[in-house]
Amino acid sequence: MTQGTDAVELRGIGKSFPGVIANHDVDLTIRPGTVHALIGENGAGKSTLMKILYGVQRPDEGTIRINGEDVVLKSPTDAIEHGIGMVFQHFMLADNLTVLENLVLGAEKLHGIGDDARAEISRISDRFGFGLKPDELVEKLGVADRQRLEIAKVLYRGAKIIILDEPTAVLVPQEVDSLFANLRELRDAGNSILFISHKLDEVLAIADDITVMRRGTTVGSADPKTATKRQLAELMVGSELPSPETGESTVTDTVELTLSDVTLTDEFGRNLLSDISLSIRRGEVLGIAGVEGNGQSELVEMIMGMRIPSSGHITLGSEDVTHWHTRRLREAGIGYIPEDRQRHGLLLDAPLWENRMLGHQTEAPNAKGPWINRAGARKDTQRIMTEYDVRAPSIDTPSRALSGGNQQKLIVGREMSGDPSLLIASHPTRGVDVGAQAAIWDQIKKARRAGLAVLLVSADLDELIGLSDTIQVILRGRFVGTFEPSSVTPQDLGAAMTGGEAA
Ligand SMILES: Nc1ncnc2c1ncn2[C@@H]1O[C@H](COP(=O)(O)OP(=O)(O)OP(=O)(O)O)[C@@H](O)[C@H]1O
Ligand SMILES: [Mg+2]
Repeated sequence: MTQGTDAVELRGIGKSFPGVIANHDVDLTIRPGTVHALIGENGAGKSTLMKILYGVQRPDEGTIRINGEDVVLKSPTDAIEHGIGMVFQHFMLADNLTVLENLVLGAEKLHGIGDDARAEISRISDRFGFGLKPDELVEKLGVADRQRLEIAKVLYRGAKIIILDEPTAVLVPQEVDSLFANLRELRDAGNSILFISHKLDEVLAIADDITVMRRGTTVGSADPKTATKRQLAELMVGSELPSPETGESTVTDTVELTLSDVTLTDEFGRNLLSDISLSIRRGEVLGIAGVEGNGQSELVEMIMGMRIPSSGHITLGSEDVTHWHTRRLREAGIGYIPEDRQRHGLLLDAPLWENRMLGHQTEAPNAKGPWINRAGARKDTQRIMTEYDVRAPSIDTPSRALSGGNQQKLIVGREMSGDPSLLIASHPTRGVDVGAQAAIWDQIKKARRAGLAVLLVSADLDELIGLSDTIQVILRGRFVGTFEPSSVTPQDLGAAMTGGEAA
């Protein structure tokens, strides 16, 4: 590669799906040794463009140049040969395999599966500060380590152009900082990084160049040295930056959910949750802050009847629901936004209207007495799409075809339907753009005014502080601090979340 040659030049890229123009007239230039952020509202075409660059999708039109050479990328294998690697919006690791196995899987030809592979892994891990343990099972890893493993996997295959599609959506601030340190190392070693994120302060912190996409095409660029978040938001969605401020308290005296001294153990008798007590009143939002992997997922799954506490009691309204299963809890009026939308929130190959029924098959408008009400479900899907701005060709589109943010909006719309009395929300705005985030916040606030009780788990500390009436910090399965949102900063929370060390 000669000095000054661009790492990537995309010219006139176009790509259509049935009923949707996902990309048109896209021009994008990536300089070598830079972090290039790609931003834009949900469904703008970012992931599609990146899948074209990684050979997963074939463009209908346009040309791709890599390091000054015209290329045709028919598959990821072609892309990898040209030094391109991609970490997808949703993780693709095999949980039941080790770190080493995940790294070498499908790349056995490169460094074998033995000592050479091990040596290469420790070289990458040391060089970029990944801290990988080759023999650890992936299912034991937290999200930040999984993210690093995905990046290591791409590097292991020799990538110099690395695409990261929303890599920080699941990370808390400290983890983002350490990922960014890794990315700067990679950049300074001459790699080019394509970084997609809806978090504009992250974009300003890490990017050397910023390109904005809107409705399938690139509409402009911004200089991270001078641009503000507000300007970026305006370029993206043409509107002002929202803020999650709650305003007046709507907390009532009626308790909706109570956990009394609840302990949850794993199959080896180790505590996942210890002596958790909480109560949420109607009209109240209880926020849970914690570094991923400290028990918040287990807490949510336990309340939703997917795990049974080993001691203690859970009460919903006036009923002891400690041993209720998920279906019964949902029917009793709990809305549930799961943390992993693709695994627990959607049937990817089913149309949107069937996804509208998922988990709510026995309730109106999806059911009439003991029968399924197809027409009711279809009509209500249309309503959700309008109210929550879910952008898709029709209610018959499979949910797989929706962009990540639009999938999330569909789930939120479904779970807010039927006026739940309690909402268990894990990262409700994960992956949605700033405009849709504001809309979801508004919906939650409106429901809260009408008496909804909410348990909010979020990695977005501004969201937690803005929406919650009280915040509990969870660390190693215990509540370790209670905070008043009006007087707490993200730094205070960060410190409590990591056990008091400076954030
Ligand atoms: N495989 C597919 N089949 C049909 N339509 C698709 C497919 N993949 C993407 N689309 C459509 O193309 C458009 C662009 O989607 P894309 O996933 O690229 O958006 P995005 O910018 O990544 O959004 P997000 O921020 O929500 O992840 C959307 O309207 C989406 O529904
Ligand atoms: Mg996307």
